[in-house]
Amino acid sequence: MIGTDVGAQAGMLAGRHPDIHAALDPARVAAQRHRSLELPSAPDDFGDSGSGGRGESYVVAQRATRTRARGINQLVDIVTGNSRADSRILVDLLGGDGLVSRVVALSGRDDTVIATCDASPFMVSQAWASGTPALRQRAESLLFRDASVGGVLLAYGSHHIPVPRRGTVAEEAFRVLQPGGMFVLHDFLTDSPVDMWFRKVVDVYAPTGHDYPHFARDEAMSYLTSTGFEDVVATVMDDSFVVSGATEQQAEQELGRYMVDMYGLDRLRDELGEQGAHRRAFELVCDIFRYEDADGGFREVQVSSDAGTGAVTVTMPREALVVFGRRP
Ligand SMILES: C[S@@+](CC[C@H](N)C(=O)[O-])C[C@H]1O[C@@H](n2cnc3c(N)ncnc32)[C@H](O)[C@@H]1O
Repeated sequence: MIGTDVGAQAGMLAGRHPDIHAALDPARVAAQRHRSLELPSAPDDFGDSGSGGRGESYVVAQRATRTRARGINQLVDIVTGNSRADSRILVDLLGGDGLVSRVVALSGRDDTVIATCDASPFMVSQAWASGTPALRQRAESLLFRDASVGGVLLAYGSHHIPVPRRGTVAEEAFRVLQPGGMFVLHDFLTDSPVDMWFRKVVDVYAPTGHDYPHFARDEAMSYLTSTGFEDVVATVMDDSFVVSGATEQQAEQELGRYMVDMYGLDRLRDELGEQGAHRRAFELVCDIFRYEDADGGFREVQVSSDAGTGAVTVTMPREALVVFGRRP
């Protein structure tokens, strides 16, 4: 499997993306080849089902490339809009099977080159299989040269980094960024609806469970400020899921399906069957993803239809914590 062979990945990158390959540190790549059997040291939640992971189900959900495009495009905009570095390379540390890269390709933008990276061999293999060049590395131990890239993104899974290692990830991002380059840390606030979803649903119904601490705002900021990043900003971003269907019922089922696949809710499938699990997931989404407005009202799951085509869109509100800063 290509996902386990970092030497082969580097070789294929040289052919397809010489710019990304030129940013790699050959000594670090060689050392990684020797260590490869140690990776990942922690249980691989995103491995295949044979290894106890939920990776296969996860990648099925990611075929719906547009569902999370709203948040992904904003994160990429933060890097491209603020970076003063020469390099256009944006290292996607928790890249999975390459969703960020596919969203960027879909929007036709040419202001960035996404370098998809991930610790899971299964995810790296899946990325290559769908045409996205990818590199197996841990976010805590990067294979890039010092001062070689323009952006580093830690997003859509930062809570999987154990708390004692989160500072190391920020230090590694600082090391590989060119002066002027941007580091973006994205996750979800402790006790937010997303945190509730993971605790009440994913931890209960996914075979992997989900016992990972999310972030406090001050905690997230401290990783950047203590590492030496400048102009550090913390903000809350609209990171909603958006799905469509021919009818309201189809669109709701589609959101339920996306949630069951993305989070590997196998026990819900076992209890209720495929369609029943999708319906129940949609109901749980409606109960949990509610955000209080400044005026005391709530932002909730919304259904809207296009007057022209009749297509129905369901939007699941989701807010993400985003902290970003620039390497001086
Ligand atoms: C929720 S997925 C996100 C994938 C993709 N960015 C997306 O949005 O679909 C989180 C990914 O982080 C990876 N991961 C977890 N811990 C990691 C680490 N320490 N270093 C690199 N990757 C890691 C997992 O293997 C998984 O593929």
